[in-house]
Amino acid sequence: MTLQQTLSILKPDATRRNLNGKINTKIEESGLKIIAQKRLRLTKEQAQKFYAVHEERSFFNELCDYMISGPIVAQVLEGEDAVARYREIMGATNPANAAEGTIRKEFAESIEANSVHGSDSIENAAIEIAFFFSQLEIVV
Ligand code: CMP
Repeated sequence: MTLQQTLSILKPDATRRNLNGKINTKIEESGLKIIAQKRLRLTKEQAQKFYAVHEERSFFNELCDYMISGPIVAQVLEGEDAVARYREIMGATNPANAAEGTIRKEFAESIEANSVHGSDSIENAAIEIAFFFSQLEIVV
């Protein structure tokens, strides 16, 4: 078990439906702690940069347009095995495949509007956290 940090995003479908509190309750009840948080609206360029790893995928353009369609909340989570732990409570990318009790099973609208994002590795977590936050904004 190692203490880790991971990036969480509450996506436009979550902010639009006023679900931030409900989703963050699930996050906090899992034992993860929110140690940085900001609400913002991405530009198209920022969305393309954040999701650059997916730029060859057929859904890249749609995904970027969706991510700028409303406000998002970016947050840093900290806890034991935070990367894997958060992915477990988010559930599968496609809500149709998400396990009972997970955030996406409960709240996601579709594979695109799937309410939350979470880093997929410790290395990517560091990159994604630095995309949104300076060290000064992360308060443990
Ligand atoms: P996320 O965890 O933010 O990482 C990439 C995102 O791309 C993913 O969640 C989904 O929102 C989106 N995505 C993945 N697969 C598809 C797909 N087949 N069609 C549309 N969007 C997708």
